[in-house]
Amino acid sequence: MLGVDVDASKVEMLSRGEVPFYEPGLPEVLQRNLDSGRLHFTTDIAEAASFATVHFLGVGTPQKKGEYAADLRYVFSVVDELAASLTGSHLLIGKSTVPVGTSVEIIRRLKESGTEADISVAWNPEFLREGFAVADTLHPDRIVLGVDPEGDQDAVVAQVEEIYATILAEDTPFLRTDLATAELVKVSANAFLATKISFINAISEVCEAAGADVSTLADAIGYDQRIGRRFLNAGLGFGGGCLPKDIRAFMARAGELGADQALTFLREVDSINMRRRTAMVELATKACGGELLGSNIAVLGAAFKPESDDVRDSPALNVAGQLQLKGAAVSVYDPKAMDNSRKLFPTLGYADSAAQACELADVVLVLTEWAEFLELKPADLEPVMRGKVIVDGRRCLDPAVWMAAGWTYHGLGGTPRV
Ligand code: UGA
Repeated sequence: MLGVDVDASKVEMLSRGEVPFYEPGLPEVLQRNLDSGRLHFTTDIAEAASFATVHFLGVGTPQKKGEYAADLRYVFSVVDELAASLTGSHLLIGKSTVPVGTSVEIIRRLKESGTEADISVAWNPEFLREGFAVADTLHPDRIVLGVDPEGDQDAVVAQVEEIYATILAEDTPFLRTDLATAELVKVSANAFLATKISFINAISEVCEAAGADVSTLADAIGYDQRIGRRFLNAGLGFGGGCLPKDIRAFMARAGELGADQALTFLREVDSINMRRRTAMVELATKACGGELLGSNIAVLGAAFKPESDDVRDSPALNVAGQLQLKGAAVSVYDPKAMDNSRKLFPTLGYADSAAQACELADVVLVLTEWAEFLELKPADLEPVMRGKVIVDGRRCLDPAVWMAAGWTYHGLGGTPRV
């Protein structure tokens, strides 16, 4: 196997067995494959073109600046470079999250490129979660493969089945689809997950107004297997490099196809989600006695979710930044995302531990539910803090523990009666 990236420093790190981001279990997998001599890395796409006959395409599709649509320039540049380098018979398997219609556009580009190679295109969306990438890859809950009706579909399916043979369990569903369906499966799944989170966050607004407890409500509705408890955790909402930009790109693409009305609800999903950040800033302000200027706030968590060092569109950092702009002194700590946070928000204050972030703090906010924050006890923070106020932005703490120790506990989405 040969991995290709344009970023030479990443290629060097990977070649040395270092993963350039935090992903549990991945360094071990990388090392095993380097040691066995099965895996190499390069920046040279022409080398990859001559090395393999099957090419996985997994480049980023970020949101375009100032627009909702996905930026496909990286996808097309790989396709154009491959087309120029390939000879013979090849299979190009897309894994990137793309607007529906992209693979057909790739096929058109390949035809127009005048390449001598015979290149089949298939689409095989990726469903892994950051933090669980290894387990999700090795034990997929389904494989979706979109194939080109004008190509030799059976041959393509057989080739992909062979590639995945070692990870496919007997009962792993393997769905063979057309290209458009495969592309749409991915964005629909992410849109559904985003909708589920915003649904429970919208309900949390009603719970808060009515004095009800959204966490118990989520448990209760989650027992209905048609609903399910997963992704019903109310709080600060979703961020990261996938859900926010994917729902926006999905809306943009539906609009281009003349089906914009179908997805107007996603605008509401997005707006409920962004409202959580405002609600968190308001709750933190209330916790500071109504005045941020002169308040010291400890922010625990910067990554967009636990088990990740990814701070792209991180709700936690967004809130920390807003609080600082409004006059608070903010000290942020995250177990894994400190370097990335410093790069993205260099003006925030940073600490080397949760206890250090809490030194002289009036209020502590838990904004990413890392396991080490769940284990914090009032007695750990009392010796260093100025106040005894905790705001639980992820509804992940036990309010009774904090209240019993004489703390004021606020939960985003309503404080349960204990
Ligand atoms: C998401 C999807 O879950 C993956 O299936 C998909 O493959 C991936 O995007 C992708 O498109 O590549 P990921 O971005 O790693 O995975 O993160 P999630 O676990 O989905 O969490 C997203 C956000 O939702 C996080 O900020 C998390 O804190 C938030 N969240 C999640 C909630 O606010 N409440 C929940 O109940 C669950």
